[in-house]
Amino acid sequence: MSTLSELAHAHTSLGQPEVAHLQRLVAAWNLVADLCFADLLLYAPRRPELDAEAEQGAPRGRYVVLGQVRPSTSQTLYPGDLLGLHVDEAERSVCHRAFRSGEVVEGASPRDDVAEPVRMLAIPVRSSGRVVAVVSREWAPSTARHHGELENAYLSVFDRFARMISLGEFPFPEADGVHEDRPRVGDGALLLDGEERVRYCSPNASSALHRLGVLADVTGRTLGELGLDEAVVRQARSGRVPVMVELSDRGGASVQAYCVPLLERREVVGGLVLLRDVSALRRLDRLLVTKDTHIREIHHRVKNNLQTISSLLRIQARRVGSPEARQAIEESVRRIGSIAVVHETLSREANDDLPFADVARPLVRMVEETLLSPDRPIYFRLSGDAITLPAAVATPLALVLTELLQNAVDHAFADRVGAFADRVGAVPDGVERDIGHVDIELRDVPGGLLLSISDDGTGLPLGFDLESNQGLGMSIVRALVQSELGGSLSMRNRPDGAGAVIELFVPVLSAD
Ligand SMILES: Nc1ncnc2c1ncn2[C@@H]1O[C@H](COP(=O)(O)OP(=O)(O)O)[C@@H](O)[C@H]1O
Ligand SMILES: [Mg+2]
Repeated sequence: MSTLSELAHAHTSLGQPEVAHLQRLVAAWNLVADLCFADLLLYAPRRPELDAEAEQGAPRGRYVVLGQVRPSTSQTLYPGDLLGLHVDEAERSVCHRAFRSGEVVEGASPRDDVAEPVRMLAIPVRSSGRVVAVVSREWAPSTARHHGELENAYLSVFDRFARMISLGEFPFPEADGVHEDRPRVGDGALLLDGEERVRYCSPNASSALHRLGVLADVTGRTLGELGLDEAVVRQARSGRVPVMVELSDRGGASVQAYCVPLLERREVVGGLVLLRDVSALRRLDRLLVTKDTHIREIHHRVKNNLQTISSLLRIQARRVGSPEARQAIEESVRRIGSIAVVHETLSREANDDLPFADVARPLVRMVEETLLSPDRPIYFRLSGDAITLPAAVATPLALVLTELLQNAVDHAFADRVGAFADRVGAVPDGVERDIGHVDIELRDVPGGLLLSISDDGTGLPLGFDLESNQGLGMSIVRALVQSELGGSLSMRNRPDGAGAVIELFVPVLSAD
């Protein structure tokens, strides 16, 4: 779908400042459509030479529709999209006259696209003193609303906006983008006169005020007299721009107030305050924040409990005599530790996704601290893409990584440890040659992630087969990667013969 600026550049001779004016207008005009209970269309004259270029005798319409908005307070005449439509001046003579004269023009317009004659009120849009386009309010008398107090009040404000549009005072000079979630007219509207006194209060506005504890009759009073904060009105008045604030009371009620100044040649002659009761929304916001805090607190406690289990096991490991048993217990301590790391990271995150590097880094540190000693100098390097993972993937992956790092330390450099230990005192400068390296690399690939761990150690034992290997570590890795994560893995010697490389692919569904 084309944007207003694309349409304007393709069909009209409007310059950038005029196009910006029209863009601000359509960003703010749903308010105007709601106030007049009718569709609004924005027409701009087409560049005459475009028809000449077409070489065809058939006239292609003198105006192009640049904008369309439906009222939320009434039925629309146009279920279809009219943007980019060309219309000729006979069909929209009311618009043509408004464009030519610079005055608001009202009239009927017989049309073939709508069953009954359409009423149109054409408002010239002025920008920097020049009429650049026409906004037309279009409605059919049969669908018009029955006039009551609310209708009359809204239509009177609509007349004010029509005048502001034709004088170049609406839209307001600054983009109103900051107020994208502003209340709509149907949420509740207060009309203020030039002295900031309430002239009309819609039923929904009166309910919103009740929420704030304002039970008195509001007509003829100022917001201040009603015990409300008047800042919104004062700021809108002095700055001559719309202002939005949130009014709340101690009982937990919150009402958004959006105040639009009504102008007549730079003088403030009144105000429109739209009110929306957002108490329920704010309550949910607060609930979410506390829920979030609770979840993080729980992760924190789980981490603490896991650490307690680890320390108990560590005490036990110190007491057992058999080195094999001790090593097995120490491996378990690291496995538990790797799960604790995930919970610790989650206890700091605002949601259930966590950057995997925040987990991998402490895991590497844990392996360094518990497995390395001066006679086991091994360097780990973490590289690759910044990947964010859901907790359900991060936990098994943390266990897998721990297992593989543990194996690199345990098996890859077994032959070097003794040789290094002999020489460490004598030739500290020559140490470099004997240091082992382990590279951990994470890559973001279509459909998931690739984790590769490669070392420059001895390589896999002769006849090693990943699938049939009975070791506990690799059994855990296989089970987690293949069954739990639905991924795949391979383990082989590096092509250059210097060490082993394990690669695994884990599918990750992206969050969106
Ligand atoms: N990085 C590696 N370099 C050389 N051999 C390895 C490496 N990783 C694993 N292996 C081999 O795979 C075997 C199985 O490992 P694992 O299942 O963790 O059992 P464990 O570590 O208890 O021996 C190891 O005994 C070792 O022979
Ligand atoms: Mg192992």
